Amino acid sequence: MKQDPRFPNLFITDHPLIQHKLSHMRDKSTSTRTFRELLKEITLLMGYEITRDLPLTTREIETPLMTVDAPVIAGKKLAVVPILRAGIGMSDGLLNLVPSARVGHIGVFRDPDTHQPVEYLVRLPDLVDRIFILCDPMVATGNSAVHAVDVLKNRGVGDDQIIFLALVAAPEGIEVFQKSHPNVKIYCASLDSHLNEHAYIVPGLGDAGDRIFGTK
Ligand code: URA
Repeated sequence: MKQDPRFPNLFITDHPLIQHKLSHMRDKSTSTRTFRELLKEITLLMGYEITRDLPLTTREIETPLMTVDAPVIAGKKLAVVPILRAGIGMSDGLLNLVPSARVGHIGVFRDPDTHQPVEYLVRLPDLVDRIFILCDPMVATGNSAVHAVDVLKNRGVGDDQIIFLALVAAPEGIEVFQKSHPNVKIYCASLDSHLNEHAYIVPGLGDAGDRIFGTK
């Protein structure tokens, strides 16, 4: 896991498999099908990294040979919350890893003129004793990511109960995110160079939603 001195709460998963798959995703000639599969595979690998610190407890289990106090994940239950629509491409991978997780949805689109998030849907599981993994492949301006964390925090979810999982981030977006939510951890596979004048990440991979769903 790599860090950037400018952004103490950003963690960059620099595992070679993740980087290799991400390079294929960036390639504009990669098909929709392959793009989607790669995103799922990367999310699974990132999910493995970000769940590394989940607290464990023990449960008494009887093996065929003896009774043993075996490690199991403690107390807190997980919820995966994709930010629609591109986040859906990541929640699939996470659910492969944690099939019993609850799934919430936050629907936000980016106003094409102001680049501000416009919310159109929020559906969440019960909030008590849960860890929420918010996912959205691209953190560009950071506005949608900030908004999604606001949605959870306004309902009483604590900073330490939220993990934000992205694929590619722009420094501009991470700066905005850290100003609003300095105590929420955010993970990505790459911190790219900058945003262009249309708020696209450079070099990026284009519009993640369009590439996942094959739309234009
Ligand atoms: N959303 C995307 O899908 N791509 C970008 O580059 C920026 C925002």
